[in-house]
Parts: sequence; C-alpha cells; structure tokens
Amino acid sequence: MIPFNQPSIGDKERQYVLDSLNSGELSGDGKYTFAVYDRFKELFGIDTMRLTTSGSSALELAALLTDIGPGDEFIVPSYTFSSTVNAFLLRGATPVFCDIRPDTLNIDETKIEALITPRTKVIVPIDYAGVPAEMDTINALAATHGLQVVEDAAQSVGSTYKGRPSGLLCDLSCFSFHVTKNYAMGEGGALVMAPGYLDRADIIREKGTNRRQMLDGKVDKYTWQDIGSSYLPSDLLAALLLAQMERFQEIMDKRLAVWDYYFEALGDLAQSGDIQLPTVPAHIQHNAHMFYLICADATTREELCAKLNQQGIKAASHYVPLHTAPFGQKNGWDKYQLPVTDDLSVRLLRLPLYADMSEADVQSVIDAIHRFYV
Ligand SMILES: Cc1ncc(COP(=O)(O)O)c(C=O)c1O
Repeated sequence: MIPFNQPSIGDKERQYVLDSLNSGELSGDGKYTFAVYDRFKELFGIDTMRLTTSGSSALELAALLTDIGPGDEFIVPSYTFSSTVNAFLLRGATPVFCDIRPDTLNIDETKIEALITPRTKVIVPIDYAGVPAEMDTINALAATHGLQVVEDAAQSVGSTYKGRPSGLLCDLSCFSFHVTKNYAMGEGGALVMAPGYLDRADIIREKGTNRRQMLDGKVDKYTWQDIGSSYLPSDLLAALLLAQMERFQEIMDKRLAVWDYYFEALGDLAQSGDIQLPTVPAHIQHNAHMFYLICADATTREELCAKLNQQGIKAASHYVPLHTAPFGQKNGWDKYQLPVTDDLSVRLLRLPLYADMSEADVQSVIDAIHRFYV
C-alpha cells in the first residue's frame, strides 16, 4: 500500500510538541508561534506574518482586510479549492471565474484584464502544485486598475518566483500548513502581509479586539474594536510547525528528489505522447508540492487511476472545477466557458509524493504506470 500523502514526523516534532504540552501554554501566540515567525524571517526574509487556524482562515482574514463586500467582484480561477472562493463569498462578493494556463494550470494572466469591471475589487490567483502564478503581470494589472491581490499560496511555501520567495509576491499571501502540505501542523495556515495591514489583522484575528496591543503593553485593557473572529492556532501546533520549518531544507530536498525521479523516469511516456508532464517555467523554483501527469483523455485518466488504486497505489484526481461543482451549478456559474479548465481537470492525475517516500515505492509507482501503457 503506497499512501497518497504522509507527513514527515521525526524526533524534533515529538520533542517540541511535548515541551509545549508540558509548558501548559496551549493558547495562541506563545513562544513557539513567535519562534515560527523568526524562522520564516531567517529562511525567506518574511517580516510580517500571523499564524492562523488554517489556510482557509488565512484567506478569510485576507478577504476581511480587503474590505470586499456585496456588489463587489473578485477574479479567481475555477480550478482551485473551495476555500479560495468561500473566503470572498462569505463577505457577500461575487466570483468572476477566469480560465487557467495550459502549462502551469495557474490563472491565465492574459485573460484577466477582459474580466475587470467597475465592480472588480480583488484578483485571487493560486499557486497550483507549488508553482507561483505570474505574479508580476498580475500585480501590474492590479496597480493599473486600482485592485488588490490576495494570493492563495496554500501550496507554495518555499517556492520562489524570479528569485523572490512565495509569501512576498504580493501584499496579502495565504499559506496552508494542513497535514497534506509540505510543512504540516495538522490544521493551520498563515497570512503574510505588507506591514500596513498588520495592526488591523491583529484585531480581526483576536475576535475584533485589541488584545495584541494590550499584550504588547500599548494599552491597559483590551476592548472590541472591529469585526473579527478567532484565527489563532494553539501554540502546541506551532511547536509542530517550528520543528517542520527547522527541517525545511531536508524536507524540500527529499520531496524534490521524488519529484525529479518521477519526471525522469516517466519522460519516455511523455516522449511517446501518452502523457504530459508538469511544466515549471525557468524563472520559478517549485517546492515539489505535487507530481501530476496529464492523460490523453478522461477515460484513460479514470482507467489509470483505478489500475493504480487496485495495486494499492493511492493516485488521485484533483479539483472538480468550482463553476461546475454542485454549488457552482446551483449559483448558475456553470454558464462560464472555461475550456482549458474543463479539459485539463478531467485528465489530470496526481501521484503519491511525500518526503519519506522510499525509492522502491517511487519505482513501484513508475513501474505500474509503465505496465499500464505497454
Ligand atoms: C489552493 C488551496 N487553497 C486553500 C486551501 C485550504 O487550506 P486549509 O486546508 O489549510 O484550510 C488548500 C488546501 O487544503 C489549497 O490547496
């Protein structure tokens, strides 16, 4: 049995979690949370971030910070997770779905401008498979039209775009540390933001109060200041994340080794035209979040997936595009014409990939795929 995904948990993770548990300081914003911020600064030069209870809540916090509301529109790919859109729907805004690029499956930046209307407020790209979207073009479009950008960087922790790290590619960037992500705290996320957003983010994240200012000695007592929610994860989970981030390079190298192995060993099937392999543009260093292949058609994808699953190999399809998912249909969004999204979403198959995956297991997956195509 080869699982699809598995977190890499070692002695350091156990030690830090136990230490946190023994300290009794289990609420949010304890020493481990602040140690995580120091680590992100050290690794990526990220100065202004806050941990959240999930990638989804980081997106909700970002949406609140944009002040988007009823009557406003946001431009987003349909090929994404529900949370990307939910965060803005919860504010009463309307999604405008944009098609994706055929190479990276990220939002097609050349199709955004045609979708901008006087009601557009935010552009929401995602970094599919840990490959950042074309952020320079997206930021330039946003600047020209007076829009904000919220990047769903749930999958791209540790990736770089033109040498700049994910998280620093726009003003509001949302990470996920869900157990399925490269660096895991079980459930968790972070909002990385331009410094000007921090004071309000602290209030929203602390149930709409200025508790952070009180803890920093700036006010005597804290009071209700703004709309908000509870977005702080327990320090116990931050302890787990700190251990993961101290193993940043080790985890990255192991994942990249698996990814590269797949890419090399399946090259012959790409050459013969049976499958398409992922494209990573030269100006991007990806984090090996995901390895996928694109089959010739939907039927082949289903057959290959079933064959692998029968052999205990947990390959998996990915998103049902949001515009055609049941809730998308209910809202009439299936009227959108998104040919690249429709085409690729039924042909894409993800392969097992995790840091501690043995070479033998990677080889077994490769062999099973080759057997399918003989
Ligand atoms: C693109 C994308 N956005 C948002 C999320 C939500 O993150 P979380 O599960 O941490 O809420 C995920 C992952 O689950 C994701 O892949």
